[in-house]
Amino acid sequence: MTKQMVAPGIEQQPSELRCIACAALIVKPNQSFRCPSCGDLLEIAFPGWKSEQATLNPESLKRLWGSRRTSLAAIDQSGVWRFRELLPFLADPEKIITLHEGNTPLFELPQCARSAGVDHLLAKHQGMNPTGSFKDTGMTVAASVARAEGFRWVGCASTGNTSASMAAYAARGGMRSLVLIPEGKIAWGKLSQALDYGALTCELKTDFDGCLRILTEVVQRMPVYLLNSVNPYRIEGQKTTAIELLEQLDWQAPDHIIVPGGNLGNSSAIGKALLELKALGFTASLPKLSIIQAEGANALVRTMRETGGKELIAVKAETAASAIRIGNPASWKKAVRVLQETGGTVEQVSEAEIAAAKAEIGAEGIGCEPASAVTLAGLKKLVKSRFVKRKESVVLILTGHLLKDPDYTIKFHRGELPAGGTDQQRTPLVLDATVDAVIGALKRAEAVPS
Ligand code: F0G
Repeated sequence: MTKQMVAPGIEQQPSELRCIACAALIVKPNQSFRCPSCGDLLEIAFPGWKSEQATLNPESLKRLWGSRRTSLAAIDQSGVWRFRELLPFLADPEKIITLHEGNTPLFELPQCARSAGVDHLLAKHQGMNPTGSFKDTGMTVAASVARAEGFRWVGCASTGNTSASMAAYAARGGMRSLVLIPEGKIAWGKLSQALDYGALTCELKTDFDGCLRILTEVVQRMPVYLLNSVNPYRIEGQKTTAIELLEQLDWQAPDHIIVPGGNLGNSSAIGKALLELKALGFTASLPKLSIIQAEGANALVRTMRETGGKELIAVKAETAASAIRIGNPASWKKAVRVLQETGGTVEQVSEAEIAAAKAEIGAEGIGCEPASAVTLAGLKKLVKSRFVKRKESVVLILTGHLLKDPDYTIKFHRGELPAGGTDQQRTPLVLDATVDAVIGALKRAEAVPS
């Protein structure tokens, strides 16, 4: 990023790539974004922030970010690049691929608050991004880096949303995209997006973890830029969920933020942002970041409970919340660090609890995909265990749009999924095509309290 793209009087700090385990500095990352010495993941660090904090004055940056909302420049309208002072450099801003990502709403969920047992509950809906999931916030940054580095091909393994997002950003940026997905295991909404956006889409006879293993080999043999969340530029873009959330709360951090956990890039990103914002003085307090998984894909939960976060316990994943059907999460070490540094916790929820929670979020006129609903299901358990207190403020991160997985929703309402003791099932009525039949249905519905 050039200096003129940064605020007057605020100097953009250079970033560096560092190994999360051995702290080795990496000048040029290899294709798989692994440390050449110890093989662990990389992260982006901003060494200048420590020594020259005055150049990152929180109050002037808050004002500047607010004022960009009225700018007509595409990078100011992006809810990611609006916060570019806290993101890595891009030498050529012309290479930025943006679809007006971010800028997602924060909704009150009063009925869900009641059923969970808290006074006040908010949901930040990342499913309102351009391709319908939180992936767009990271993709705008990492895809732009791929384009700036001259790649013709980008690639990802995916449970669906990453592939939809990557295919869109690649298409907008004039690059081709390679998608590896587990055969028959991704929701139609997501597959249809990848196809429409022009990706070379390969369904492999394996699970997500197998797809990622194969892609990691492919990128070492072919000039394909890896866009999974092991790519640390993805994580940087996804930090803006937390920055934008705090801005929407007038920089008063909530007590708790609750996110779903799959490959664990998103929780790592939100946690990294919270720790950076606190260190830089944007907020006085640090929310506890908690991560919820499906019982059938609970690698992090087991890792925390059985090894205290020291060793990964990989699992053979199975859940109808297909977005988080992941058994060997790549970013588990980053997620453990975030849990430990923010004081958050992990929880797991059953298939029935997920289905019921999803319907409750839908009944507020909001809706989300199943993987997002683990947050509400998890909150209920965290309130019961008194980790979350009734008076504390809680924000759920809803990661994907309701329309990503309509099959799941229809199966639930037809009674084909476990319902978790909910009264939220609404089967469509098949009626004679008469006025009387419809009025009769209306009267019967009126007699049932909503
Ligand atoms: N929610 C949704 C809707 C997702 O698509 C994902 C991950 C997650 C939660 C979990 O986020 O992996 O950062 O912990 N989807 C990836 C994909 C894996 O390929 O679309 P995570």
